[in-house]
Amino acid sequence: MFEQMQAAPADAILRTMVEHRDDPRPHKIDLGVGVYRTPEGVTPVLASVKVAEQELLDSQTTKTYLGSSGSADFNAAMAELTFGNNDLADRLVTLQTPGGSGSLRVAAGVVLKAERSRTVWVGEPTWANHIPLLGNAGLELKTIPYYDRDTHSLREEAYLDALRQAPAGDIVLMHACCHNPSGIDPTPEQWKAIADIIVERDLVPMIDMAYQGFGDGLAEDALIIRELADRVPEMIVCNSCSKNFGLYRDRVGALSILVRDTATRDIVQSQSNTIVRTLYSMPPDQGADFVNIIINDPSLRSQLESEVADMRTLIIGMRQLFHDSLADKAPGRDFSHLVRARGMFCFLGVTPEQVERLKKEHAVYMVDSSRINVAGINADNVEHLATSIAAVLD
Ligand code: LMR
Repeated sequence: MFEQMQAAPADAILRTMVEHRDDPRPHKIDLGVGVYRTPEGVTPVLASVKVAEQELLDSQTTKTYLGSSGSADFNAAMAELTFGNNDLADRLVTLQTPGGSGSLRVAAGVVLKAERSRTVWVGEPTWANHIPLLGNAGLELKTIPYYDRDTHSLREEAYLDALRQAPAGDIVLMHACCHNPSGIDPTPEQWKAIADIIVERDLVPMIDMAYQGFGDGLAEDALIIRELADRVPEMIVCNSCSKNFGLYRDRVGALSILVRDTATRDIVQSQSNTIVRTLYSMPPDQGADFVNIIINDPSLRSQLESEVADMRTLIIGMRQLFHDSLADKAPGRDFSHLVRARGMFCFLGVTPEQVERLKKEHAVYMVDSSRINVAGINADNVEHLATSIAAVLD
């Protein structure tokens, strides 16, 4: 059965993670996979999560099944974190999912079940897993211009024009904040123009929020979701708790589907449960419990908010440090987009060949597209990093 199969190409992001891990050179630098790192280069368990872990350990009395949509308390907490309140409860289905990827996969299943449009318009570039994940699930992905690699900015006119051409009822996949991979988000005015077209053209927004809190703050980064929820009858939101709660391997996420009315909500809830049941039956529990404990305890919640603020501030500082070191080592080049970008990522703006040389000759790892995770930079490695980049520039 199996020997005639061809090996699958490795995922670009996960391959970089493995290549870096297997490199014995002590001065190696990992700017690949999107995980936060402290100035010492570690990805810590957040202090608020440590407290929640202990609380759960002390208080949990059963591990019996919860059902396909997971914990109702977690789902209400995530809806509140996303929409700012629970006022939409009559029209909202929220499910606990295994990470943001699980959320996207279940969302694709629900869209297919609805038997309306299966077309998703997605900005180019987007997270490397969006297209294979949603495409393998059966959706049809159509790319539209998003990022201008020369000016390092949003291709505003081209993007808006493409949205204007999308047939009514189609889905538009967007990043709530901290665009992955470019770090370039629409400005408030650009978001307004995007939202206007979505409303006028009767498109269905599908918003992936994997970095809530890494742009401007937990509430600020959800603004576009909250504004759209006031204006559209239907929308889909996919949350990940990997980065803002640091729960990467625990696989915590949520899917929220806003519908027109309560009767439809109940139907969508039942269909979503069936999709989950036939995919993985029920989501993993523990990480979602930590999130639930933190969101519902005011002091833990404010601790989490300040931990997220610390991560955000550190990354912004690293962007500046990196920019200044590069300006020093490679004078005459404009790297100002490195400080304009938000969240963990941006493009360095070098060719795949230069990315390869950085790996081979300098032990500096990044995704082939030259997407870098700025959180991998620190005061100890920035000198080697900037010198290495200057050495491969033409
Ligand atoms: C990334 O883009 O590096 C992260 O979202 C991790 C992943 O799963 O790709």
